[in-house]
Amino acid sequence: MKTLLVTGGAGFIGSNFVRMALSEHAGRRVVVLDGLTYAGNLENLEGLQELYPERYRFVRADVTDAQALASLFAEEAVEEVVHFAAESHVDRSILGPMAFVKTNVMGTATLLEAARQAWGDGRGRYLQVSTDEVYGALGDAGAFTEETPLDPSSPYSASKAGADHLVLAYHRTYGMHTLITRCCNNYGPYQFPEKLIPFMIARMVSGDTLPVYGRGENVRDWIHVDDHNRGVFLALEKSGPGQVYNLGARCELRNIDLVRALIREVAAQTGRDPVELERRLAFVQDRPGHDWRYAIDPSKAVRELGFRPRVAFEEGLGSTVAWYLAHEGWWRRIVSGEYLEYVRKQYGA
Ligand SMILES: NC(=O)c1ccc[n+]([C@@H]2O[C@H](COP(=O)([O-])OP(=O)(O)OC[C@H]3O[C@@H](n4cnc5c(N)ncnc54)[C@H](O)[C@@H]3O)[C@@H](O)[C@H]2O)c1
Repeated sequence: MKTLLVTGGAGFIGSNFVRMALSEHAGRRVVVLDGLTYAGNLENLEGLQELYPERYRFVRADVTDAQALASLFAEEAVEEVVHFAAESHVDRSILGPMAFVKTNVMGTATLLEAARQAWGDGRGRYLQVSTDEVYGALGDAGAFTEETPLDPSSPYSASKAGADHLVLAYHRTYGMHTLITRCCNNYGPYQFPEKLIPFMIARMVSGDTLPVYGRGENVRDWIHVDDHNRGVFLALEKSGPGQVYNLGARCELRNIDLVRALIREVAAQTGRDPVELERRLAFVQDRPGHDWRYAIDPSKAVRELGFRPRVAFEEGLGSTVAWYLAHEGWWRRIVSGEYLEYVRKQYGA
């Protein structure tokens, strides 16, 4: 049985990935390493220890802790690493960039070095989970390919770009089997309620205003988290070393159109009045350096890995809204004092 180390497995995408790895990839033992920052939540992994006592282990540690990583690699015969752990929220990176440099750049460097020390002769595969934001912004036309030069705008995307360079350098310099996937915006269950979709659903349910940056005209490209994670597995299993794959589902939406789609969905599923929800829209001052548009061209992954997103957007949005409505306790427990303070700072009273 292969041992797969998943960092950031208590976060949004990581926890969905861990569940998929355990349920659909029986030949793997999954060791989750997570520092449990504000975004990490053990509730996202609830029940897995009981369901998979032999194949699942959780370790609380920081990815910048070289000693903890060395001990883990000494204890476990890790053959694969999928690195999700990161500070992941653009707005927070504008308020406090240093945590992003530490976790995203130093954390990646520390993990790569721990893997290199453990693997020595080139055994093992390391996959870096990256983002389309490293490419910067697009105008009204075109899409990012793997050849698009990196041109990040925010401290978040700059720290992710720095990490990507390290990952490729470890392949070129040491011959390690490293690779990168760069994905567009994810949606689905277990996403921390500071991110657009759960943020809006929670506020619709709670009777709050619905703050939208600028006029809501910025465009984002959306993919269901399960499609993203299927792409990560394909790359882990099929890719050669030193490769980069863009993952996306060709689903571009203006932010305001997404929020309106959510209004329709929440209204339909809860019986709330869509006109009353629409009245709560509040256009707020735009984010500094707000990238205009992102769009991912996934054709290399389609061609070389057989990547095919399965979840149609309307279906995925409907099931996502249903999940947050059914798990109100989950997000209400997260919407804590610290988080409320952050929302106040970000969007005003
Ligand atoms: N969410 C998206 O739409 C999206 C899109 C493309 C790429 N990504 C990338 O996917 C990855 C996961 O994103 P997410 O949205 O699930 O993030 P998240 O914020 O929900 O989860 C991040 C996880 O990493 C952990 N973590 C943070 N700092 C750590 C540290 N120093 N040591 C150990 N653990 C630490 C947190 O506790 C948390 O469990 C990130 O690398 C992100 O850049 C996200």
